Amino acid sequence: AKILLLHGPNLNLLGSREPHIYGAATLAEINQAAERQCDAAGHQLETLQSNSESALVERIHLAANTSVDFIVINPAAYTHTSVALRDALAGVAIPFIELHLSNPHAREAFRHHSYLSDLARGVVYGFGPHSYTLALQAAIHQLGMASQ
Ligand code: DQA
Repeated sequence: AKILLLHGPNLNLLGSREPHIYGAATLAEINQAAERQCDAAGHQLETLQSNSESALVERIHLAANTSVDFIVINPAAYTHTSVALRDALAGVAIPFIELHLSNPHAREAFRHHSYLSDLARGVVYGFGPHSYTLALQAAIHQLGMASQ
């Protein structure tokens, strides 16, 4: 199956960005580990990081036309602001998992609300780069259940 891994704004800075909150791994390292994990499970991975809301919305639309089976997304700051991202995910009706490196509920009040969580299959947060591993593991498990 085909899994799309989306990274929202500022995640291109991972490794140097507030490492006490987000950890030391770079986005390239996270993508490489994700690639290995999907490969080992016999799935195909596509990734995109963008700082632009419109690029993320358009990538989600494209996913519907390129038979993406599952989306794993760290919407970053757009988690807390973007009705457009919510509507795009609802519009394509591709199952998705929301993930965060940090635990947004242990941080500022403006990070406590997500526009996506109630539409997600599930949400993983608080484990640093390992959140990606856990979210992909859950996505792979969901795909296995769907094909039975
Ligand atoms: C984040 C949490 C968001 O609140 C923040 O805006 C980010 C990263 C995380 O992965 O912990 O950019 O999504």
